[in-house]
Amino acid sequence: MYKRREYVELYEKDLAKWALLRNVNTVVKHSTLLPGDYVWLDLKSGGEFEVSVGAVVKLCDSGQIQVLDDEGNEHWISPQNATNIKPMHPTSIHGVEDMIRLGDLNEAGILRNLLIRYTEKLIYTNCGGRTYTGSILVAVNPYQLLPIYTADQIRLYTNKKIGEMPPHIFAIADNCYFNMQRNNRDQCCIISGESGAGKTESTKLILQFLAAISGQHSWIEQQVLEANPILEAFGNAKTIRNDNSSRFGKYIDIHFNKRGAIEGAKIEQYLLEKSRVCRQAHDERNYHVFYCMLKGMTPEEKKRLGLSRASDYTYLTMGTCTVCDGRDDLKEYSNIRSAMKVLMFTDKENWEIYKLLATILHMGNLRYEARTYDNLDACEVVRSPHLTTTATLLEVDGKDLMNCLTSRTLITRGETVSTPLSMEQALDVRDAFVKGIYGRLFVWIVEKINAAIYKPTSSQPKALRRSIGLLDIFGFENFTVNSFEQLCINFANENLQQFFVRHVFKLEQEEYNLENINWQHIEFTDNQDALDMIAIKPMNIISLIDEESRFPRGTDTTMLNKLNFQHKLNTYYIPPKNNHETQFGIQHFAGVVYYETRGFLEKNRDTLYGDIIQLVHSSKNKFIKQIFQADVAMGAETRKRSPTLSSQFKRSLELLMRTLSVCQPFFVRCIKPNEHKKPMLFDRELCVRQLRYSGMMETIRIRRAGYPIRYTFVEFVDRYRVLMPGVKPAYKQEDLRGTCQRIAEAVLGRDDDWQMGKTKIFLKDHHDMLLEIERDKAITDKVILIQKVVRGFKDRSNFLKMKKSAVLIQKTWRGYQCRKNYGAMRAGFSRLQALVRSRKLCASYHVARQRITGFQGRCRGFLVRRAFRHRLWAVITIQAHTRGMIARRLYRRLQGEYRRRLEAEKMRLAEETKLRNQMSAKRAKAEAERKHQERLAQLATEDAEREKKEKQEARRKKEMVEQMEKARLEPVNDSDMVDKMFGFLGTTASFRDRRDRPPLASR
Ligand SMILES: Nc1ncnc2c1ncn2[C@@H]1O[C@H](COP(=O)(O)OP(=O)(O)O)[C@@H](O)[C@H]1O
Ligand SMILES: [Mg+2]
Repeated sequence: MYKRREYVELYEKDLAKWALLRNVNTVVKHSTLLPGDYVWLDLKSGGEFEVSVGAVVKLCDSGQIQVLDDEGNEHWISPQNATNIKPMHPTSIHGVEDMIRLGDLNEAGILRNLLIRYTEKLIYTNCGGRTYTGSILVAVNPYQLLPIYTADQIRLYTNKKIGEMPPHIFAIADNCYFNMQRNNRDQCCIISGESGAGKTESTKLILQFLAAISGQHSWIEQQVLEANPILEAFGNAKTIRNDNSSRFGKYIDIHFNKRGAIEGAKIEQYLLEKSRVCRQAHDERNYHVFYCMLKGMTPEEKKRLGLSRASDYTYLTMGTCTVCDGRDDLKEYSNIRSAMKVLMFTDKENWEIYKLLATILHMGNLRYEARTYDNLDACEVVRSPHLTTTATLLEVDGKDLMNCLTSRTLITRGETVSTPLSMEQALDVRDAFVKGIYGRLFVWIVEKINAAIYKPTSSQPKALRRSIGLLDIFGFENFTVNSFEQLCINFANENLQQFFVRHVFKLEQEEYNLENINWQHIEFTDNQDALDMIAIKPMNIISLIDEESRFPRGTDTTMLNKLNFQHKLNTYYIPPKNNHETQFGIQHFAGVVYYETRGFLEKNRDTLYGDIIQLVHSSKNKFIKQIFQADVAMGAETRKRSPTLSSQFKRSLELLMRTLSVCQPFFVRCIKPNEHKKPMLFDRELCVRQLRYSGMMETIRIRRAGYPIRYTFVEFVDRYRVLMPGVKPAYKQEDLRGTCQRIAEAVLGRDDDWQMGKTKIFLKDHHDMLLEIERDKAITDKVILIQKVVRGFKDRSNFLKMKKSAVLIQKTWRGYQCRKNYGAMRAGFSRLQALVRSRKLCASYHVARQRITGFQGRCRGFLVRRAFRHRLWAVITIQAHTRGMIARRLYRRLQGEYRRRLEAEKMRLAEETKLRNQMSAKRAKAEAERKHQERLAQLATEDAEREKKEKQEARRKKEMVEQMEKARLEPVNDSDMVDKMFGFLGTTASFRDRRDRPPLASR
């Protein structure tokens, strides 16, 4: 069992293997979904065109699964509802160029593929391109100008195989052209799709491409290209779906000469929508040519035709829209004129055409008034300039015209009776006339164009001319109300589908026959039964309608009854539910369509009353006579039996189918992505509807029913020889077929449903898958072996390299580590050493210091002691001197005192002696004593005074010393210094005085 992830990987690697495994193992559990996975989400809304939508898983871990779909809507899915989601094939995730490669080959897968590519502006996608000569291209209308149609692109796509380049309309054109030359066979390109899907644009692109690569720039080439503007002017109109909607089908057959140059062309037109001339739905216009004419004509021309502005004409204003955005009617007019010149329309013819167009406009403006004659409803045309202009332009008698428009001539039993027409009938007659004119004018124009561009082959042998036919035809239609035209259109599409399916199948058959392959058992469903019922078998629907149209009393109801009677048991016919219903249904290849029978016969008869033909016959206007030539020539009786619209259409369709059947066809399926003509807008339901109608599924079904895979022997041998050891490459093989067979038998088994052709081997899908798986296995084994060896070698050398590197890193790291350690250790040791040394030094220092200190102490002690001794000595000496000096001074003083006392004593004694002469001895003694005492007191006072003086002197000296000491510390002032230095000069006495004195004793 594969896991989801592995599945996805497998998808991307090997599609075939995936598909096989998917068959074996279809259930993928939702629990294996992962965010980012893509799934198909079945919304089950029940719409007819509802298909699964692609979605991406956002969340899936919370029990519920959250997904985001392609439309941008979020959905929560509970596990019970998980059957709604299926895993998506990887080819559907990113899209593929060729849809045959889609793993999810169903409508949802195809739709999503187109959607993905469309969002990337890749509007073209192949469908089963490579194996078929006639391939199918799907083109989605971009509704914007893409830069993919340049001359460079044309060059890029020239002479390439389909599949070699990305899908493109040019690839189809190129293949048409080169197939035509290579195979010498006519080619055709069937371009189909709804209105507005891009058929006409595709046709023009192919034409351009062909003109470019056939490369002659010739006149005829130009003429072929210029046919388009004319056809578009007269056959295209603005509708709500398409601003330039072709209201007719066309088949352009382009003829090439043997050198591959455009030599001519032939245009076939189908079923122009004539009713548009008289009636337009809201927001739609009449044919372009009317508006262009009114915009572009000169005032004189308009005056001659009595014309004015578009808004003045009833036939041009029914859709209340006279201008078309993005279309310049004036410019288009000149384009039409020049195109008409190129295509050899003479001025006279042009003028006649415009005259008829003007007639139509005037007729549209005729007013009617109701009247009653003999109890019969009748009417009259109000006289107006329009009426006279109409008569003038038609060059008929005014009265005849009036009669013709208001009454009708009946021939009963050889008598002609004129009966009045009611107003309603008269309007119908007028409209029928107008439609008759326009329809025939259109046919004439196409014939005129053909006359210019078509060169009949009679002169040269047929083999020398080849052609490419481009069919731009309305696609399958299913409106709410479908009328007779839709029946014709759907009948045509039924035919084309038949052609398509048969062609695809026929090609298969051809190839099988060519290769001698037994293909009997290959079945496919085609729409032959539906075609039989509509137009082939006796009493078919068309023939019944025709029959009833010819039957004079036939009505739509009688016709419906006949249809019911004839076909009610046919599975392809759906009868009305009751008698009142007027619809019947047909099971077409693309689905059931209900047709509203009212108006069927009228539309089918498509005949004009005899009166009108008569009127034309009476006209002097040669041109109108010319375009009504066939009708005029027929005569009344034959006209009644003239072919009906359906039989005409059937005949031209048969012719077309016959032409197509001898061509190698290519198919372009145009798809309209939305109804709003908007770029980048993708309406899923609309696209599913178109896909269903295009019948693309049928191709895929047929292809899958047969042998979808085929290889040439060379391809097969080269691709699968790995499955048989020893098989040599194809170019070395002699019996390629035998080798192929051996390989196939060995891998697929002898009895399985595969076949050997003459040059190819034919396989079913599952064979291819099986072969691919086996091949994948074989190659995987070899690859694994090679991988093993290579990886071994790679890993070994890697390992060695890594080992070397690791060792280097280790070495370096370890070295670094050791160095770091060593450094740290060394630093440690240094620190230790330093410590030890410092300790040692410290110790010795301390010792030395101690010693020095001791020594110093002693020295200082010695010095101090010595100084002390000196000082002591000095002190003692000074003391001694001082003491000596003091003692001496004292001595001298005492000596002086003594002497003075001695003298005083002597004097006292002398005096006493002297006084004793004069006085008694005692008295003399007392007197002498008293005088002596006085002298002693005086001496004491003198001593005290001297002592005081000396003390004063000593104090003064001391102060002077202190002052000088102080002055020594003070900053020096020069002048003061001088004063001081020489100040002594004034006081030499004191100086001398001081010098004599002994030094002061220190205290
Ligand atoms: N290949 C294209 N590139 C750009 N625009 C396109 C292309 N095909 C179609 N269209 C647009 O779509 C419109 C309708 O295309 P047309 O071919 O007239 O549709 P149909 O013929 O199918 O009715 C054109 O007028 C043009 O605007
Ligand atoms: Mg068209």
